[in-house]
Amino acid sequence: MLRIHREHPDHGQYTQVDSASGRLGDITESDYLAALPKDCTESTKGIQAITGDEATIFTGETPATHTRFPRRIYFQITRNCNLACDYCFIKAGAGLAHVPVSAAMEMARFLARHGLIEVRLTGGEPTTHPHFFDILHQFRDEGVYVSVATNGLMSRRTLERIAEIDHLWVICSIDGDRDTHNRYRPGTFDKVVANLRYLKQSNSSIRIRLTTVLTRHNKGQMFELAGICKSLDAESITVIPLRPQVRSAGMVGDMVTAAEFKTVIEDLVAAKHRLGIQFTTTIETEHAGDVLPDPVFRKRWACAAGREGANLDYDAATGRFLVYGCAYSPAVDSTVPDKIRAPFLAGEFALDNPVGFLDIWRDDAAWTIFRDLSLKWDACHDCNWYLSHRCVGSCPIQNLDYSKINAEDNVLAQLRHRISRTSEWYCYRAIMSADRSNPVGSRGG
Ligand SMILES: C[S@@+](CC[C@H](N)C(=O)[O-])C[C@H]1O[C@@H](n2cnc3c(N)ncnc32)[C@H](O)[C@@H]1O
Ligand code: SF4
Ligand code: SF4
Repeated sequence: MLRIHREHPDHGQYTQVDSASGRLGDITESDYLAALPKDCTESTKGIQAITGDEATIFTGETPATHTRFPRRIYFQITRNCNLACDYCFIKAGAGLAHVPVSAAMEMARFLARHGLIEVRLTGGEPTTHPHFFDILHQFRDEGVYVSVATNGLMSRRTLERIAEIDHLWVICSIDGDRDTHNRYRPGTFDKVVANLRYLKQSNSSIRIRLTTVLTRHNKGQMFELAGICKSLDAESITVIPLRPQVRSAGMVGDMVTAAEFKTVIEDLVAAKHRLGIQFTTTIETEHAGDVLPDPVFRKRWACAAGREGANLDYDAATGRFLVYGCAYSPAVDSTVPDKIRAPFLAGEFALDNPVGFLDIWRDDAAWTIFRDLSLKWDACHDCNWYLSHRCVGSCPIQNLDYSKINAEDNVLAQLRHRISRTSEWYCYRAIMSADRSNPVGSRGG
């Protein structure tokens, strides 16, 4: 199914996606106009889905603060998991709840009809949801491209059924060489690698991406990881720095420093040139030409959280859906005091009221931390890396110490102050400058 989107220029003005293969590309304004049926009148309000001869065209309002509808949703279909990694931000584990299947199916229909491009089924371990395949196929049948974030541990039957799905994007965690991976995910490396090899050999159209959580134990293993990526014929590797929202507090000590992260990116660039692998990571700056761009998100003025993408989660305690921008924030954690959690949580809605999702998405006030660009670190506003879109500017998550926030005081005001004044962990300009008065080398938090 072809789907064409018209958006604000900051979010890629005209794009076309083939929902079966996930192939997505920019198109010109005249291609766009040619796809519109002759007699149709375009609205500049709300969301309009127009059925053309060869594509469905999504148009309507084009706000600058966010895409008309999220382009990718991270859907936590379960908090259940067959592992219990110490660093897990969502604190998934055995026996935790799955989203009710009927609500997931209804959301699939609703999200597809409003123009969602990609759903990433995640969790927890999404493949443990008893209706994993029903949910996956519902999205595909409705015209949404599906990617699956998995730890790669699944039964033979599940593996065989996944292998039957053409063009599925399988995004699988590998945390370094065999020893380092097994340190975080005990005894699983060989099994995961064998499963990925089976998938690719059974169906060459399946796309495989490896995801590595970057820590002080694997920061020197970029060439080994690139070798694994190549040997599995994986499409790319993503390296994501460990975030401080963890299950076991001791894991925060495994976070890398900003300067170490810079070296890792340089190693990835070298590995790319030596082995021909593709990689993505959370910043580009001077290596923009070497980092594989996200096909769905544009990230011109900020990361995509709450602007181009959202998380959809299920709170088993209340039986409601949760919506938030960043899964690495306190939004995911019901044990964090409500007043600290609230600014990161965009909203919640009843399982039988999908339109509640749209109301939340359209409400800029619910997404202040992600949509109000005045909250960027002070130094970003006149930085050339920022103005030339090679750095998305400061991150509201990586360098915030929640324990220093007083829940009894005005939390948003405290966050505003901290986000705009704390030294920025991701800041390449600061890392490269001789002035190290800001503690850019510190390990987060
Ligand atoms: C929560 S998992 C869900 C999918 C699947 N269970 C897996 O492990 O790949 C999604 C991704 O988040 C990563 N992750 C978990 N905790 C993290 C943290 N504190 N910081 C950064 N990434 C983290 C995992 O390694 C995984 O790649
Ligand atoms: S990181 Fe993934 S595999 Fe590990 S506990 Fe969390 S959800 Fe499970
Ligand atoms: S000041 Fe640093 S973090 Fe901000 S945009 Fe420039 S390079 Fe990026």
